[in-house]
Amino acid sequence: MAATRPSVEGMRAWRLDGTLTFGDVPDPEPPDGAVVVRLHAAPVLSYLREYVAGKLGHYHPPTGPFTPGTSGVGVVERVGRGVFTLTPGQPVLVTGNYTAAENVPEPARGLIGLTSEFAAVRDTWRDGTLAEKVVAPAPTVTPVPAGLGDVVAVTRCLVPYGGLLRGRLAPGETVVVNGATGAFGSAGVQVATALGARRVVAAGRNPAVLARLAARERVVPVRLTGSVPADADALRAAAGGPVDLALDLVGGATTPDSTLAALAALRRAGRLVLMGSTSAPLPLDYTALMLAGTEVIGNFMYPDDAPARLLNLVSAALLDLAALPVASFPLADLPAAMDAAAEPGAPLVVVTM
Ligand SMILES: NC(=O)c1ccc[n+]([C@@H]2O[C@H](COP(=O)([O-])OP(=O)(O)OC[C@H]3O[C@@H](n4cnc5c(N)ncnc54)[C@H](OP(=O)(O)O)[C@@H]3O)[C@@H](O)[C@H]2O)c1
Repeated sequence: MAATRPSVEGMRAWRLDGTLTFGDVPDPEPPDGAVVVRLHAAPVLSYLREYVAGKLGHYHPPTGPFTPGTSGVGVVERVGRGVFTLTPGQPVLVTGNYTAAENVPEPARGLIGLTSEFAAVRDTWRDGTLAEKVVAPAPTVTPVPAGLGDVVAVTRCLVPYGGLLRGRLAPGETVVVNGATGAFGSAGVQVATALGARRVVAAGRNPAVLARLAARERVVPVRLTGSVPADADALRAAAGGPVDLALDLVGGATTPDSTLAALAALRRAGRLVLMGSTSAPLPLDYTALMLAGTEVIGNFMYPDDAPARLLNLVSAALLDLAALPVASFPLADLPAAMDAAAEPGAPLVVVTM
């Protein structure tokens, strides 16, 4: 990884093409249907270091050099043809969660700056947010209401919010978040309380992070042991009874035990939403699921209106972003930011421009 000095023309951006380099690139033009956003901050994924090292084989990055980075906050600078509401100077949230606006059963989609199973998507919308500016298709850009201040931590909440929406969390229900000590899992604990969960059971293995989560209202930590029956009992006890909804956000799990414990903790007709990753198969008991009427739901990302809905929760003081600690690094210090983000129990790491 090498850093080069910025010039006055163009903008500075990280580029990935086998190796990661920092330097000057031309100022982007907004194509039809897109805007150019001048970024203030962009989050760094916990697994970005492994991604840029090419160690995550199930991701599909663009071919050739591109700027990684999935989301960010900033201000609209320029607007392309066919964009009718966003205007220059408007504060916005950019998510990179792109789904083509085509009336077909399975429109092409992708996470801009990270991956897409559609080659045409990753080559059309190649560049992400680890740069001073990003070209963002309009559907991935959400206006930030005036007076909200810094909302970069919303980017961490969107993924678990998508899972809780998909799992139809209703106020007054109980929730288990598995992988609660992780980046998205800990935000999931916060979002579940914001949505009115009666009790949120934070299931994990890292005692320091569990202790931090336990300080939050309506959150009960459970330290997992690896024994499915014992952990399921502990989760039920912590929830005060059988659990309504489990949100699974384990990352890179090598055993299915904690997911199976969350499943076993559910009440009849309970819901398990799978959003994380595991290298182990998930063995399911057909008869048990049938008799209990359990729903097992896979979920990728969140609906297009989720960013605006989450920002409404922040506006209404229902979601307290201050509860999600943020550590900032200058954009040029991305390698150090990636190391910090990979630490167990890391705060939300962002680079600032
Ligand atoms: N579905 C989607 O739309 C979507 C979107 C974004 C990300 N993701 C996925 O979400 C996952 C989490 O991402 P992240 O950034 O939050 O990762 P992270 O910060 O590394 O957190 C992973 C968590 O999983 C826990 N874990 C790992 N193996 C476990 C096991 N065998 N039993 C119990 N807990 C285990 C870790 O606990 P310890 O601290 O105890 O190790 C940690 O709390 C990743 O797999 C990512 O690919 C999915």
